[in-house]
Amino acid sequence: MPQSNRKKRVLITGCSSGFGLLTAVRAAQAGYEVIATMRNQGKAGYLHEALDRAGVSATLEELDITSPESIRMVVQKYSPIDILVNNAGILIMGSFLDLTQAETRRVLETNYLGIVELTRAVVPSMIERQTGMIINIASLAGRVGHPFNAAYAASKHALIGFSQSIRVELMPFNVKVVSVEPGYHKTEIIRANATLSENFYDRKSPFFEWNRGFLRLMMDRVIPKAGEPEAIAARIVEIMGLENPRLHYILGRDARWATRLEWLGLGQWLASKVFEKLQIARHRENRRAEYKKNRRKKTSTQTQES
Ligand SMILES: NC(=O)c1ccc[n+]([C@@H]2O[C@H](COP(=O)([O-])OP(=O)(O)OC[C@H]3O[C@@H](n4cnc5c(N)ncnc54)[C@H](OP(=O)(O)O)[C@@H]3O)[C@@H](O)[C@H]2O)c1
Repeated sequence: MPQSNRKKRVLITGCSSGFGLLTAVRAAQAGYEVIATMRNQGKAGYLHEALDRAGVSATLEELDITSPESIRMVVQKYSPIDILVNNAGILIMGSFLDLTQAETRRVLETNYLGIVELTRAVVPSMIERQTGMIINIASLAGRVGHPFNAAYAASKHALIGFSQSIRVELMPFNVKVVSVEPGYHKTEIIRANATLSENFYDRKSPFFEWNRGFLRLMMDRVIPKAGEPEAIAARIVEIMGLENPRLHYILGRDARWATRLEWLGLGQWLASKVFEKLQIARHRENRRAEYKKNRRKKTSTQTQES
C-alpha cells in the first residue's frame, strides 16, 4: 500500500487504564492504527472490553518505558510510528522528606527519563520521513507545584521543559511536539494506582500529621471534584488530527484556574489558600484519629469488664 494511503500509526503508552485506555479506543474509532501498549499484559482485560464495546480493534503490546530493552524491541517492531503519545505515568504521594531516594527515582524514571528514552528511539524515523507528532501527557502539577507530590510535580515540570525545548529542535524536520496538561481527573492514578510513600505513616516523621491531612484533603475535596477522563481522551485524539497544534493544552477547570492565578502573579495567594485547607484537613483528620482511638479503648475496657 502506498505510504500516503496507509492509516496513521499511533503508539500510546500506559493503556491498561485511564487516559491511555480511553485514548486508544477513541483513536481507533477515529480511524488510526493503534498500538496500545502497557507494561503488564495481565491488565489488558479492560482495554479488550472497551475496544469490543466500541466495535474497534487495536494491537496490544507489552512496553515498560523504564526498560531500554522493552523500548528497543517495540520501536523496532512497529517503526515507522506517526504519532507517539507518552501517556504512562505514576504518582507516589507523601512529603518529599518521607519519599525514599528509590521512590523519588522511580517517579522520575517513569514520568521523565523513560519518556525521553522512548522519544529518542521513535524520533529518528520521524526525522527521516520529515513528519510526526509527539504528544506528552504532563499535568497541572508540571505548571504549579503540588505539596506532598513533589517528585511527581518535579517530573512533570521536567516533562514540560523537555517538550518546550524539543519542539524547537524538531521544527526543521516537521515533527510537532505537544504538551497536554490536565488537572485532576477520575482515573486510577488517584485511585487504585495512587501509591503512598513507604514512610507515609511513619509516626516519627515531622510530616506524619500533614501527610494524613493531605490525604484527607484529597479524599474530601479534590477527588470528588475531579473531572471525567473521557473529555481528555477526546481532546488528545482531536490534537492528533491538527496540522499546527499548540505547544500547551491546559485541560480541566482546576488546571485553567490555577495556571491563570500563577500568570496573574497570585501564586503566593494560591499557596496560602492550599495551606489553609491543609490545616483544616489535618485538624479534622486528627479529631477522627482521636475519636477512633477512644472508641477502641472504650470497647476493649467493656470487653475486659464483661
Ligand atoms: N488523572 C489525573 O488526574 C491526571 C492529571 C494530570 C496528568 N495525568 C497524567 O496522565 C497520564 C495517565 O494517567 P492516568 O490518569 O490515566 O492514570 P492511570 O489510570 O493510573 O494510568 C497510568 C498508566 O501508566 C502505566 N504505567 C505506569 N508505569 C509504567 C511504565 N513503567 N511503563 C509503562 N506503563 C506504565 C500504568 O500501568 P499499570 O496499570 O501497570 O500501573 C497505567 O496504564 C499520566 O502520565 C498522569 O501523570 C493524570
